[in-house]
Amino acid sequence: MTKQRVLSGVQPTGNLHLGNYLGAIRNWVAGQSQYDNFFCVVDLHAITVPHNPETLAADTYTIAALYLACGIDLQYSTIFVQSHISAHSELTWLLNCITPLNWLEDMIQFKEKAVKQGQNVSMGLLDYPVLMAADIVLYDADKVPVGEDQKQHIELTRDIVDRLNHQFGKGKAVLKSPAPLIQTDGARVMSLTDGTKKMSKSDPSDMSRINLLDSPDVIQTKIKKCKTDPVKGLVFGDADRPECNNLLTLYMLMSGKSKEAVAAECADMGWGQFKPMLTEATIAHLKPIQDKYHEIMADPGYLDSILKEGREKAGAIAHQTLLRVKKALGYSLPL
Ligand code: TYM
Repeated sequence: MTKQRVLSGVQPTGNLHLGNYLGAIRNWVAGQSQYDNFFCVVDLHAITVPHNPETLAADTYTIAALYLACGIDLQYSTIFVQSHISAHSELTWLLNCITPLNWLEDMIQFKEKAVKQGQNVSMGLLDYPVLMAADIVLYDADKVPVGEDQKQHIELTRDIVDRLNHQFGKGKAVLKSPAPLIQTDGARVMSLTDGTKKMSKSDPSDMSRINLLDSPDVIQTKIKKCKTDPVKGLVFGDADRPECNNLLTLYMLMSGKSKEAVAAECADMGWGQFKPMLTEATIAHLKPIQDKYHEIMADPGYLDSILKEGREKAGAIAHQTLLRVKKALGYSLPL
């Protein structure tokens, strides 16, 4: 039986944080042997907000190396860079022309980012979910493992697929409809400085997030200073204690203990006792990832060869899908 296909990606904007890891990459690693996986570094998405050309290429490498360091296994998975395969941009144009403008104006993430940016919102920011749809459908992906915040974009992808199939499929599916794959725990990791806000790369304060490459000292300081509440006894799921729920969830996922075990262990605890435990579990969890990352980065030729292979394998599939869509839309195809 052929395996179902998975596609997902992360933007190379700054460092990866625990939200990216727990909401996405950790789940890619856990499920990879069941699927035929494609993981891209979505560098075209990275320029939908103002970016630094001096660091874009290096950040792209960092993310690819972190995929490997977190446990992406090339036996099951292909890693590539989005901008290396021009079919992503080309299919975006074709999908743009069948996507109603108001679908994009309704996207929550667009509205949030547009408010933050004020006057300088680019067409690219509005169009970002169509590029994401192109990423997914180019590989006929069945499943898209992501954090909660990307769910709406996958629903939009499904709507675009339906519309294209309906208008141009002559009764057959030109494109495959993907399903989101979202885990219950870690799908929405919250900021360390405000438990009601998502942990995010774009938060101006680095104290709000733990980055995968933070040193033990930095991790210790961030957890020491993170927001808590004055209540003794730590519990999951109390809506009035968002920081408590977030920090307990982080502890559970970093330590690998079950929810029941953590609930029992922390039921009578105060923050003074809990914070060093969370610190220790986080440092211990991230150490092997950091060691592997530095090993990979010490040999840039190795990463280059992986990305080249990825480009060839992913590019061949993307090219076929693009031809299929162009044919359905009525284009004359080059001989
Ligand atoms: P990006 O780069 O913002 O985030 C990468 C992944 O991390 C997840 N994530 C979180 N999960 C839990 N808690 C958080 N606080 C948190 N913050 C981020 C995101 O849900 C995502 O899974 N548009 C996407 C990238 C993309 C993509 C794709 C994803 C482009 N094309 C195709 C899947 C398929 C994005 O900006 O993710």
